[in-house]
Amino acid sequence: MKIVCIGGGPAGLYFALLMKQRQPAHQLRVIERHRPYDTCGWGVVFSDATLDNMRRCDPETAAAIEASFAHWDDIELRFKGRRIRSGGHGFVGIGRKKLLNILQQRCEQLGVELVFDSEVESDLDFPDADLIVAADGINSRTRTRYAERFQPELLVRPNRYLWLGVNQRFEAFTFDFQRSEHGWFQAHIYQFDDATSTFIVECPETVWRAHGLETASVDESIAFCERLFAETLAGARLMSNARHLRGSAWLNFQQVRCQQWWLRNEQGVPLVLMGDAVHTAHFAIGSGTKLAIEDAIELAGLLDGAEAVDDDALQRYQQDRRIEVLRLQNAAWNAMEWFEVCGRRYCDQLEPEQFMYSLLTRSQRISHENLRLRDKTWLEGYERWLARRQADEPAVPPMFTPYRARSVELKNRVVVSPMAQYMAVDGMPGDYHLVHLGARAMGGAGLVMAEMTCTSPDARITPGCPGLWNEAQQQAWARIVDWVHANSDAKIGIQLGHAGAKGSTRREWDGGDLPLPDEAGEPNWALVSASPQQYLKGISQTSKAMTRADMERVRDDFVAATRRAAVAGFDWLELHCAHGYLLSGFISPLTNHRDDDYGGSLENRLRYPLEVFRAIRAVWPERLPISVRISAHDWMPGGITPADAVEIARAFKAAGADLIDCSSGQVSKQQQPTYGRMFQTPFADRIRQEAGIPTIAVGAISEADHVNTIIAAGRSDLCAVARPHLANPAWTLTEAARIGWRDIAWPKPYRSAKSQLEAGFARSASGAKA
Ligand SMILES: Cc1cc2nc3c(=O)[nH]c(=O)nc-3n(C[C@H](O)[C@H](O)[C@H](O)COP(=O)(O)OP(=O)(O)OC[C@H]3O[C@@H](n4cnc5c(N)ncnc54)[C@H](O)[C@@H]3O)c2cc1C
Ligand SMILES: Cc1cc2nc3c(=O)[nH]c(=O)nc-3n(C[C@H](O)[C@H](O)[C@H](O)COP(=O)(O)O)c2cc1C
Repeated sequence: MKIVCIGGGPAGLYFALLMKQRQPAHQLRVIERHRPYDTCGWGVVFSDATLDNMRRCDPETAAAIEASFAHWDDIELRFKGRRIRSGGHGFVGIGRKKLLNILQQRCEQLGVELVFDSEVESDLDFPDADLIVAADGINSRTRTRYAERFQPELLVRPNRYLWLGVNQRFEAFTFDFQRSEHGWFQAHIYQFDDATSTFIVECPETVWRAHGLETASVDESIAFCERLFAETLAGARLMSNARHLRGSAWLNFQQVRCQQWWLRNEQGVPLVLMGDAVHTAHFAIGSGTKLAIEDAIELAGLLDGAEAVDDDALQRYQQDRRIEVLRLQNAAWNAMEWFEVCGRRYCDQLEPEQFMYSLLTRSQRISHENLRLRDKTWLEGYERWLARRQADEPAVPPMFTPYRARSVELKNRVVVSPMAQYMAVDGMPGDYHLVHLGARAMGGAGLVMAEMTCTSPDARITPGCPGLWNEAQQQAWARIVDWVHANSDAKIGIQLGHAGAKGSTRREWDGGDLPLPDEAGEPNWALVSASPQQYLKGISQTSKAMTRADMERVRDDFVAATRRAAVAGFDWLELHCAHGYLLSGFISPLTNHRDDDYGGSLENRLRYPLEVFRAIRAVWPERLPISVRISAHDWMPGGITPADAVEIARAFKAAGADLIDCSSGQVSKQQQPTYGRMFQTPFADRIRQEAGIPTIAVGAISEADHVNTIIAAGRSDLCAVARPHLANPAWTLTEAARIGWRDIAWPKPYRSAKSQLEAGFARSASGAKA
């Protein structure tokens, strides 16, 4: 076959040499616009897994690369005058020039034709080729030419970065954070040969502009960075090899994704994109070269032994690589975002120890237990720091550190999230609730929240919802609270809510959001909300907009229920302002269309929920906390965004809220949420740092490892766990045993099960290791 590679970067060169090595009869030509050995860039990093892959494909190239590697294990943070180092991270780095030279030499050795100093204008210049590989980099002309068919999605990110080098050795992958008068800068520094290190300086666009770097020459920018990072540089000079760039040498990262990775051009020649031409990954996880190399390996494998290129092979290349690349881009995305917001969200707020932990877990792919495997001593030291323990005391998993809100001390960070059970009759909690909540209180969580409890009969979601509008209900709740206090050391809280436009519906298992059927014993009741609304278009009842009199009645109902909750002995109160129910309906612009003081701006939309909050805060005992559950994202165009959620949290904080419980969605049936592990935790994190109020994270938090990572990184103060507690009331006790944490009290009658469970987990862990 005649194969042409446009572009002599890692992708083009490695693909060419692999094809030639497998089938020497192929004719391979790599065309590169630059001269040999004339390249831009400093070091690149690889993982061990990529190198293993390369060893299998072409041991000679792998050996040459390995001989030139700089290897390092540690990550060091330089921050606020401190240096913190943790080990076990395992990177290898190589100079980009060195890597390309090795690949070029190997190509020549195998008989690949290398054409330098030659610009390819069009793929149509090669009508007799059997395959054209467009490995022409991030600004791929080939991709642009066929943009309609490749459907690239190009996203320019807000931070600015400058890719520099320095003749200085760094034993560890070093992150240096420096504050200037206009904001924070960070340097990512890694050694790639005996004497040289890459030194990437990054900052937000606003900080960059404030320093006038927009109009600075390369030399002025370098002088600026040398002053800023003077301590770390210790006299060494920064170097640029981007002097050919016009204007400022500071770049914005551009993320590239493509729907289609290959096509046949009008001459019928198969044309395939590879490397940065088809995808990019942010340097925060440094995997661009790895991805380019792996693309080459995949396609060479699929074409192995073929005499011609068939479309199926190209389709498989696209399918397999797209998924792998997406996975990595997602991880790179989290890490990239972390660096974009760290200046305003973490640098000022977190102490160096916690900042280091947050930095290490930024991609959300490295968890607490991964860190333990990498550097147990460092992690245990950090656990002690977090638990404010002495060096000679045992380390405590972050999940099992106590938490205090006002006078209430929770024994750990786990909350049984409120979960509607729809098992009340006339709003009365009964034996069902005693058993349900009692079992969970014995299960180890620090706080057990009872489900949304309604402030009047017409505030209910379904006829099965419990209430707190009369004396009998108060006494029924008091029986449950007393039982929990007498039989466990868990605290118990209640969530007060009003269903608003989402009321008068069937129980979950009888049809959920549908209105009550005509034949039901109880007729539908009239609904009120911020504005007239039909939750299920054409199906739900239409609610009526609340008048001021309605608002006063409902506010007073909340106050009366709060008083009863206090008398019943609850330790914690939560105001339900989420999920499209009454108060959430006021906050979201999707459901609030009022033109009075309670509609329009966010300030107006918050007016009524804050009025209710202040009224209940005034009657709830001073010594007890109130949390507010919000929908931090409506997942809908025109709806609440995470940035709005910060403002919402600030407003409740100013009104006296103790914590914000950060849920999302359920405001509109048309919502488009992005689910995934811990998917709402970023909202809790952002609100905690930017609004400066403690938060509860919730949503797909299902393992102790998740809770530990969230709490340790300071992303939230508590973690609410819902569905796992339906499956297992003793979720916390079970997870403690799973991670080998034995210093946890079990209910006395259950103690004989504790050591058995712990031994079982220990056995399966050692079995897994064996
Ligand atoms: C600041 C920064 C730090 C990075 N750090 C790392 C890191 O630590 N680890 C890592 O793995 N990756 C890193 N990368 C990314 C890495 O450099 C790329 O992902 C990788 O080089 C992609 O290889 P490629 O072959 O696809 O493209 P490139 O390396 O960009 O090669 C494309 C080649 O095509 C040539 N070309 C383009 N158009 C034409 C044309 N029309 N005719 C002829 N030739 C043409 C170009 O001259 C170039 O040589 C970093 C990138 C940046 C910006
Ligand atoms: C059966 C069930 C009932 C729920 N009822 C409530 C509720 O009454 N109040 C509330 O704020 N959230 C309610 N939720 C949402 C949960 O509290 C939690 O936010 C959500 O399930 C995500 O957590 P998870 O992934 O741990 O399940 C309910 C969830 C479930 C599964």
